Amino acid sequence: MKLEIRLLDKTFSPYLSEDEIMDRIEIIANDLEQDYSDKDVVFLSVLNGAFMFTSDLMKSLDINLQISFVKLSSYQGTESSGVVRELIGLNKNIKDKHVVILEDIVDTGNTIDKFMELLKPHGAQSIEVCTLLFKPTAFEGQKAPKYVGFEIPNKFVVGYGLDYDEAGRNIKELYQLKE
Ligand code: IMP
Ligand code: MG
Repeated sequence: MKLEIRLLDKTFSPYLSEDEIMDRIEIIANDLEQDYSDKDVVFLSVLNGAFMFTSDLMKSLDINLQISFVKLSSYQGTESSGVVRELIGLNKNIKDKHVVILEDIVDTGNTIDKFMELLKPHGAQSIEVCTLLFKPTAFEGQKAPKYVGFEIPNKFVVGYGLDYDEAGRNIKELYQLKE
């Protein structure tokens, strides 16, 4: 890893190496294999942040599975006061299936709660959340992630799919904002 990296106006220091991330993903993959090897499972990878985690996790998973890449769109309605959010990319029938949502990070938990609400009418048999990173002290959501790579402090991190203002997603390790 580099001693530090510069993205836009900020400096970041090393946080988790590629080896540390890969070792942890192996363990999560084992847990998922145990829980889902005999089930009809659909993974829903939340774009954009989860793309790298999804790729490495999928390569470690030796079970029959399906995968869809989904996204929360947001657009400002002309009359509505709030922001309307839609689920896009759900091209699989998840009725009666076991769903695992794949996230890069669960912070406040608001994004996951929104996903749960939008998935509800699709009639999945079960829904769990698998996230590479979890900030427990920031969490105020309804649905806690069942599979967690790393619990981390409430500090901003970047790399391995996560961005700072769209920068840094391609970095293969995780860096933390330098104070
Ligand atoms: P939520 O607060 O759990 O709804 O998380 C919302 C989104 O904020 C996540 O999906 C990430 O895209 C982003 N996010 C939260 N914490 C970080 C971070 O430390 N680095 C990069 N993105 C983050
Ligand atoms: Mg995200």
